[in-house]
Parts: sequence; C-alpha cells; structure tokens
Amino acid sequence: MRVVILESAAEMTQVAAKESLERCGLLAPKRGKRLGRLVLGLATGGTPVGVYREWIESFRAGDVSFQSVTSFNLDEYVGLPTSDPRSYHAYMREHLFDHIDIALENTHLPDGCAEDLNEAAANYEWQIEEAGGIDYQILGIGTDGHIGFNEIGSSLASRTRVKTLTQRTRSDNSRYFDSLEGVPRMAITMGIGTIMSARSILLIASGEQKARAIRDAIEGPVTSMVPASVLQLHPDVTIMIDEEASRLLAHRDYYRESEANRIRLHDISESVLERRDS
Ligand code: PGA
Repeated sequence: MRVVILESAAEMTQVAAKESLERCGLLAPKRGKRLGRLVLGLATGGTPVGVYREWIESFRAGDVSFQSVTSFNLDEYVGLPTSDPRSYHAYMREHLFDHIDIALENTHLPDGCAEDLNEAAANYEWQIEEAGGIDYQILGIGTDGHIGFNEIGSSLASRTRVKTLTQRTRSDNSRYFDSLEGVPRMAITMGIGTIMSARSILLIASGEQKARAIRDAIEGPVTSMVPASVLQLHPDVTIMIDEEASRLLAHRDYYRESEANRIRLHDISESVLERRDS
C-alpha cells in the first residue's frame, strides 16, 4: 500500500488529478506511448469533485482527451430517476461528463430504478467484464470506512448488488437532500470483489472526519467491519490524503520517508531513460 500525505485538501486534489491522468496515459504522451482503450472506475461524493474540476481544466487546456475512455461508476441510489439532480447520474454529468470529450454511450452507472435490481446488478458486472475489467479505480471512503456503498459487514468477495445504507451514511449524505428522511435507504453498488478486481486503485480522502476510517483502513486488521481495510490485500493501491485525514496514523513518518524514496528512485530512472533517448 502506498500512502501519500499532502499538506492540504487542495494539494491532495491537484496531485491526485495529475497522477491519475498520468497513470492512465491520458496526458499528452512523453515518449510517443499512448494506451489503447482505458476503463476507468469513477466515484461520486464531495471528494472527487475537485479532481474532476482539474481534469476538466486539463481537457480545456488541450492536454488531455477522454475519447478512449470507458467509465463505470461505483454506485447509484435506488429509486432516484437519472433526471433527479441528486442522482449520481446527474452528478456525473454536472461535474464531469458534460465538460469533456468522453462519449456518453461509453459511460455507465448502475440502474437504481430498474424493475429487477438483481438483474441490473448482474448486468452491470457483465458489462464491466465485457469491457475488459477496470484498469484504474478512483475511490472515496465513508466516515464508517465504506468504499462504494459497501457498508459494514459487506462480504469482502461481493459483486455488484443492492445494499442498505447505514444511518451514518444517510446522515453524512443528508447535506445533499432536504432532510434525512429524503435520503434513499438503499443503493446499488459495485461489490468489494468488483473493486478489488480493478488493476490499480487510487483512494482519496481529506479532512479530520475521515481520520478514523483512514487509520482503520491502513493500520487496522482486514475486516468487513471496515470495508476499506480489504485494500491491504490489493497489489496496486495508492491512498492519497491530506494532513487532517492522516492525523491518527501511527506511522506517518515512515509513509513520508517511503514516498520521498519512491520519488527519488523515479527521478533516477527518468534521468536514465532521458539519457538513453538523447
Ligand atoms: P465524500 O464521500 O467524498 O462525500 O466524503 C465519500 C464516500 O462516501 O465514499
């Protein structure tokens, strides 16, 4: 697990945006290498908004194209039509899709209004598989340690399905609704197994309210009581957080030193490649 601690939420957002574009090969290529089709897993919520804003700016500056991207979102509320401004379908259009060159027919979110939700969930899994699996998954984390809407007790092997939201999640998300009562009680979400099948994962979090979940996810035992802790078993996970979210970590200095060494090694191999290319 790579843990990157940045000074502020703004810095975390900028670094996450730049790194994700680079890792996905979406930036203008340095050495004439561009990836073919890319399957991106996308998240909603407050945290990714800034990352999407940065992506849009890079697109407007002509540095990035999303034409080769197919996307799959983590989750959608059950019962909110896609036209509802609080649905994640609407969120994605507002915060990303309407502002970049991604083909809308290549974007996917679970259908929270399907007549048969189990069938819609199975179909979503099938679509991800058909697309070749997720190359790069962006994740947030709930204050209770959820990823996607995989709440406490979610099977660590679960695939896309309907989940009941905890009171805590409904209360955290009530800021987007008129009242707590108005927050849907269920969601259709990629499972933990679905998320773990992604080839590479970037989890972003900021603020003191996330400090406990971040500590439990990184330094606690792997347990379905903290769904994000399962990421300890994934071979390619980066957790990018600000100072406040890192506050309860016992080994902050070690993570900082590891990251400084990683950057040093990366710089050395870049300069070797540049010498070789010249
Ligand atoms: P947030 O949500 O970015 O709005 O804090 C994160 C999550 O619930 O996954």
